[in-house]
Amino acid sequence: MPLPSNRIGQISESDLEGWEVYIEALRLQRDGKDVIMTSIGEHDFDPPHETINACKQALDNGHHNYTDIPGKPDLRESMARVSNKALNLDIKPSEVVAMPGGQSCLYAAMQATLDPGDHVIVIGPHYVTYPGTIRAAGASFTVVNAFSEDGFQPKAELIEAAIQDNTKAILINTPNNPTCAIYSRETLEAISDICIRHDLWVISDEVYWSLSNGTHISPMAIKGMRDRTIAILSMSKSHGLTGWRVGWIVSTEAMAYNFTQHNLVSNYGMNDFVSKAASEALQNDFGLEEIADTYRKRGTVFLDALGNTNDIRVLNEPGSMYFMLDVRAKAKDTKKFAFEFLKEELVAVMPGESFGPTAAGHLRISLGESEERIKEAAVRLRRFASNYTE
Ligand SMILES: Cc1ncc(COP(=O)(O)O)c(C=O)c1O
Repeated sequence: MPLPSNRIGQISESDLEGWEVYIEALRLQRDGKDVIMTSIGEHDFDPPHETINACKQALDNGHHNYTDIPGKPDLRESMARVSNKALNLDIKPSEVVAMPGGQSCLYAAMQATLDPGDHVIVIGPHYVTYPGTIRAAGASFTVVNAFSEDGFQPKAELIEAAIQDNTKAILINTPNNPTCAIYSRETLEAISDICIRHDLWVISDEVYWSLSNGTHISPMAIKGMRDRTIAILSMSKSHGLTGWRVGWIVSTEAMAYNFTQHNLVSNYGMNDFVSKAASEALQNDFGLEEIADTYRKRGTVFLDALGNTNDIRVLNEPGSMYFMLDVRAKAKDTKKFAFEFLKEELVAVMPGESFGPTAAGHLRISLGESEERIKEAAVRLRRFASNYTE
């Protein structure tokens, strides 16, 4: 038998690491237990009905064909419109390339900026797919951790110290999943200064831009960064379309050409009827404010129900799709805490360890359940934490 490539084996070192609590929660659900799922970043609601209607109409109106490789002109126009809001810049449709989801944008960004043997700095704790996406380009990476004490804002001196001769890019994510940190202007200026001095790309994952109460700043908008930033946006979270797979990359026209070439050999363009509906949703902001509002309300309900407690320190404001909770007053080993919490109280949370060592002692709570169930999760968490000893 021929063997698979070495590359494919290296993409994901361990698929299930970090997901053990979630997998156990799924098992309990299958056994008929009513588990409150606050572990993964998935909505419990359908896409906005206007977007669904636009898609039905697109199906009826003959949108069944291959589409332009960088995205249809109206879709790129709509994506540029939303990019202007998200990045606070004047983006041209020719600087935008549509792709099936933020994840494929991340993949393409690595392919377009890294050669085998290159090195990337990744700010940790980080989203789970980053390492595999970098390995798939034949590159290596160093995780530079941010710390709870700094509100998980990365420190410039630690980034600078991790730079090697072959470092080509820094991968950042703001608003951040899992830490919920929204990078401040000072943080972004410090990162930009490093990138300019060392001639690096910034690959900037901004898929949560709309869930930041208007406080999101893109590194692309920092002086000197316009042409060295690859910004990644997606409709999954902002427009409630996780399963539709619509994302896009904002870069320069020259890089947009490269991303188009990448699309040619990978996706061969977007789905036609999804493109049409996505374009309308972006043009009319279908769901944009409503979804942000839903998470703000759920966040407020969660915090009210949690109340004041010395056991749990909340690191972010309502508005994000998640809360990052510091429970180090009660537990260092949050994987154990999360397993016992699941067993006793039937609430699934993500232990911080799943995202890297500096998130140990923290829990990430997703707000992907109804207000009523989020409230119940907070009540149970408070109760459990107050009785918990390690
Ligand atoms: C930080 C981050 N980046 C990228 C993605 C991928 O999103 P998409 O659904 O657009 O592929 C996610 C999904 O949860 C995410 O949390």
